[in-house]
Amino acid sequence: MSYKLGEVLLSREVIAERVKEIAAEIAKDSEKGKPLVIVGILTGASFFLTDLVRELPEDMDVRVDFMSVASYGDSTVTSGVVRIFHDLKTNIEGKNVIVVEDIIDSGLTLSHLLTLLKGRHPASLKVCVLLDKKERRKTEVKVDYCGFSIPDEFVVGYGLDCAGMWRHLKDIKGVIEEK
Ligand code: PRP
Repeated sequence: MSYKLGEVLLSREVIAERVKEIAAEIAKDSEKGKPLVIVGILTGASFFLTDLVRELPEDMDVRVDFMSVASYGDSTVTSGVVRIFHDLKTNIEGKNVIVVEDIIDSGLTLSHLLTLLKGRHPASLKVCVLLDKKERRKTEVKVDYCGFSIPDEFVVGYGLDCAGMWRHLKDIKGVIEEK
Protein backbone atom coordinates (compact mmCIF):
# COMPACT_ATOMS: atom_id res chain seq x y z
CA MET A 1 0.00 0.00 0.00
CA SER A 2 1.31 3.44 -0.84
CA TYR A 3 -0.13 6.77 0.19
CA LYS A 4 -0.62 10.06 -1.62
CA LEU A 5 -1.77 13.38 -0.24
CA GLY A 6 -5.35 14.21 -1.13
CA GLU A 7 -7.50 17.34 -0.95
CA VAL A 8 -7.42 20.00 1.73
CA LEU A 9 -10.21 19.14 4.17
CA LEU A 10 -9.58 21.86 6.72
CA SER A 11 -7.51 24.83 5.62
CA ARG A 12 -5.05 26.63 7.89
CA GLU A 13 -7.38 29.65 7.93
CA VAL A 14 -10.40 27.59 9.01
CA ILE A 15 -8.32 25.85 11.68
CA ALA A 16 -6.90 29.13 13.00
CA GLU A 17 -10.38 30.66 13.25
CA ARG A 18 -11.73 27.66 15.19
CA VAL A 19 -8.68 27.58 17.47
CA LYS A 20 -9.40 31.21 18.42
CA GLU A 21 -13.03 30.36 19.18
CA ILE A 22 -12.08 27.40 21.38
CA ALA A 23 -9.53 29.53 23.25
CA ALA A 24 -12.25 32.12 23.88
CA GLU A 25 -14.57 29.41 25.28
CA ILE A 26 -11.81 28.08 27.54
CA ALA A 27 -11.00 31.59 28.77
CA LYS A 28 -14.69 32.28 29.48
CA ASP A 29 -15.06 29.04 31.47
CA SER A 30 -11.83 29.39 33.42
CA GLU A 31 -11.81 30.10 37.12
CA LYS A 32 -10.24 33.51 37.78
CA GLY A 33 -7.01 33.41 39.76
CA LYS A 34 -6.65 29.62 39.60
CA PRO A 35 -3.97 27.99 37.51
CA LEU A 36 -5.12 26.05 34.48
CA VAL A 37 -2.93 23.13 33.47
CA ILE A 38 -3.10 22.30 29.78
CA VAL A 39 -1.93 18.73 29.20
CA GLY A 40 -0.94 17.85 25.64
CA ILE A 41 -0.78 14.24 24.53
CA LEU A 42 2.27 13.72 22.35
CA THR A 43 2.90 13.73 19.56
CA GLY A 44 0.00 14.85 17.41
CA ALA A 45 -1.63 17.29 19.84
CA SER A 46 1.49 19.42 20.31
CA PHE A 47 0.77 21.40 17.13
CA PHE A 48 -2.81 22.24 18.12
CA LEU A 49 -1.85 22.92 21.74
CA THR A 50 0.83 25.48 20.95
CA ASP A 51 -1.54 27.45 18.73
CA LEU A 52 -4.37 27.15 21.26
CA VAL A 53 -2.49 28.41 24.32
CA ARG A 54 -1.15 31.41 22.42
CA GLU A 55 -4.75 32.51 21.84
CA LEU A 56 -5.48 32.55 25.60
CA PRO A 57 -5.46 35.95 27.34
CA GLU A 58 -2.09 37.06 28.75
CA ASP A 59 -3.55 37.59 32.23
CA MET A 60 -4.65 33.95 32.54
CA ASP A 61 -2.52 31.65 34.71
CA VAL A 62 -1.82 28.97 32.11
CA ARG A 63 0.64 26.10 32.59
CA VAL A 64 1.60 23.66 29.84
CA ASP A 65 2.77 20.09 30.25
CA PHE A 66 2.92 16.99 28.05
CA MET A 67 2.44 13.26 28.35
CA SER A 68 3.28 10.49 25.96
CA VAL A 69 1.02 7.46 26.24
CA ALA A 70 -0.20 4.44 24.33
CA SER A 71 -3.51 2.77 24.95
CA TYR A 72 -3.80 -0.99 25.13
CA GLY A 73 -7.55 -1.03 25.17
CA ASP A 74 -8.31 -3.28 22.23
CA SER A 75 -9.74 -6.76 22.42
CA THR A 76 -6.40 -8.54 22.18
CA VAL A 77 -5.01 -7.03 25.37
CA THR A 78 -6.55 -6.42 28.79
CA SER A 79 -8.48 -3.16 28.58
CA GLY A 80 -8.18 -0.24 30.96
CA VAL A 81 -4.46 0.12 30.55
CA VAL A 82 -2.58 3.10 29.32
CA ARG A 83 1.17 2.81 29.09
CA ILE A 84 3.05 5.98 29.99
CA PHE A 85 6.21 6.70 28.03
CA HIS A 86 6.61 10.22 29.41
CA ASP A 87 4.70 11.48 32.41
CA LEU A 88 3.72 14.97 33.57
CA LYS A 89 6.20 17.06 35.54
CA THR A 90 3.31 18.97 37.06
CA ASN A 91 1.45 17.88 40.18
CA ILE A 92 -2.19 18.30 39.12
CA GLU A 93 -3.76 17.68 42.52
CA GLY A 94 -6.33 20.40 43.25
CA LYS A 95 -5.75 22.08 39.87
CA ASN A 96 -8.03 22.66 36.91
CA VAL A 97 -6.82 20.50 34.03
CA ILE A 98 -7.66 20.34 30.33
CA VAL A 99 -6.36 17.40 28.32
CA VAL A 100 -5.69 18.37 24.71
CA GLU A 101 -5.78 15.81 21.90
CA ASP A 102 -5.50 16.21 18.14
CA ILE A 103 -8.08 13.51 17.47
CA ILE A 104 -10.50 11.22 19.28
CA ASP A 105 -11.37 8.04 17.46
CA SER A 106 -12.34 4.92 19.47
CA GLY A 107 -12.01 7.03 22.63
CA LEU A 108 -9.92 4.33 24.33
CA THR A 109 -6.79 6.42 24.79
CA LEU A 110 -8.66 9.31 26.39
CA SER A 111 -10.90 7.07 28.44
CA HIS A 112 -7.93 5.29 30.02
CA LEU A 113 -5.96 8.46 30.41
CA LEU A 114 -8.82 10.26 32.15
CA THR A 115 -9.18 7.39 34.61
CA LEU A 116 -5.47 7.63 35.34
CA LEU A 117 -5.50 11.43 35.76
CA LYS A 118 -8.64 11.39 37.94
CA GLY A 119 -6.66 9.22 40.35
CA ARG A 120 -4.35 12.22 40.86
CA HIS A 121 -7.30 14.27 42.20
CA PRO A 122 -7.39 17.38 40.00
CA ALA A 123 -10.01 20.02 40.95
CA SER A 124 -11.51 19.55 37.49
CA LEU A 125 -10.64 17.56 34.40
CA LYS A 126 -11.84 18.53 30.94
CA VAL A 127 -11.16 17.36 27.40
CA CYS A 128 -10.39 19.43 24.33
CA VAL A 129 -9.99 17.78 20.93
CA LEU A 130 -9.39 19.32 17.55
CA LEU A 131 -11.03 16.51 15.58
CA ASP A 132 -13.75 14.10 16.61
CA LYS A 133 -14.52 10.95 14.58
CA LYS A 134 -17.76 10.28 16.44
CA GLU A 135 -18.84 7.25 14.44
CA ARG A 136 -15.68 5.36 15.46
CA ARG A 137 -16.34 5.59 19.19
CA LYS A 138 -16.06 2.35 21.20
CA THR A 139 -16.35 3.92 24.62
CA GLU A 140 -18.10 7.05 25.80
CA VAL A 141 -15.91 10.06 26.54
CA LYS A 142 -17.25 13.51 27.43
CA VAL A 143 -15.63 16.02 25.10
CA ASP A 144 -15.86 19.54 26.55
CA TYR A 145 -14.31 21.44 23.66
CA CYS A 146 -14.30 20.17 20.07
CA GLY A 147 -12.86 21.80 16.98
CA PHE A 148 -14.53 19.80 14.22
CA SER A 149 -16.58 16.63 13.94
CA ILE A 150 -15.28 14.73 10.93
CA PRO A 151 -16.33 11.59 9.05
CA ASP A 152 -14.29 8.41 9.26
CA GLU A 153 -11.64 9.43 6.75
CA PHE A 154 -7.88 9.14 6.91
CA VAL A 155 -6.55 12.65 7.55
CA VAL A 156 -3.06 14.06 8.01
CA GLY A 157 -1.42 17.39 8.74
CA TYR A 158 -1.42 19.90 11.60
CA GLY A 159 0.08 17.19 13.83
CA LEU A 160 -1.72 14.17 12.40
CA ASP A 161 0.49 11.61 10.72
CA CYS A 162 0.56 8.69 8.34
CA ALA A 163 3.31 6.34 9.55
CA GLY A 164 5.15 9.34 11.00
CA MET A 165 4.85 11.46 7.85
CA TRP A 166 2.99 14.70 7.05
CA ARG A 167 2.57 16.02 10.59
CA HIS A 168 4.19 19.25 9.47
CA LEU A 169 1.52 20.22 6.91
CA LYS A 170 -0.22 23.50 7.70
CA ASP A 171 -3.58 22.29 6.40
CA ILE A 172 -5.41 19.07 7.24
CA LYS A 173 -5.61 16.91 4.13
CA GLY A 174 -7.08 13.60 3.11
CA VAL A 175 -4.92 10.62 2.21
CA ILE A 176 -5.35 8.53 -0.92
CA GLU A 177 -4.47 4.88 -0.43
CA GLU A 178 -3.07 3.14 -3.51
CA LYS A 179 -2.58 -0.63 -3.79
C1 PRP B 1 -3.83 9.35 18.22
C2 PRP B 1 -4.43 10.53 18.95
C3 PRP B 1 -4.96 9.89 20.20
C4 PRP B 1 -5.38 8.53 19.76
C5 PRP B 1 -6.85 8.55 19.51
O1 PRP B 1 -2.55 9.14 18.72
O2 PRP B 1 -3.49 11.54 19.21
O3 PRP B 1 -3.96 9.83 21.22
O4 PRP B 1 -4.69 8.24 18.54
O5 PRP B 1 -7.32 7.29 19.17
P1 PRP B 1 -8.40 6.52 20.05
O6 PRP B 1 -9.51 7.48 20.35
O7 PRP B 1 -8.83 5.40 19.12
O8 PRP B 1 -7.73 5.99 21.28
P2 PRP B 1 -1.46 8.23 18.02
O9 PRP B 1 -1.44 6.90 18.71
O10 PRP B 1 -1.69 8.22 16.54
O11 PRP B 1 -0.13 8.96 18.44
P3 PRP B 1 0.54 10.32 17.86
O12 PRP B 1 -0.23 11.47 18.44
O13 PRP B 1 1.93 10.24 18.37
O14 PRP B 1 0.44 10.27 16.36
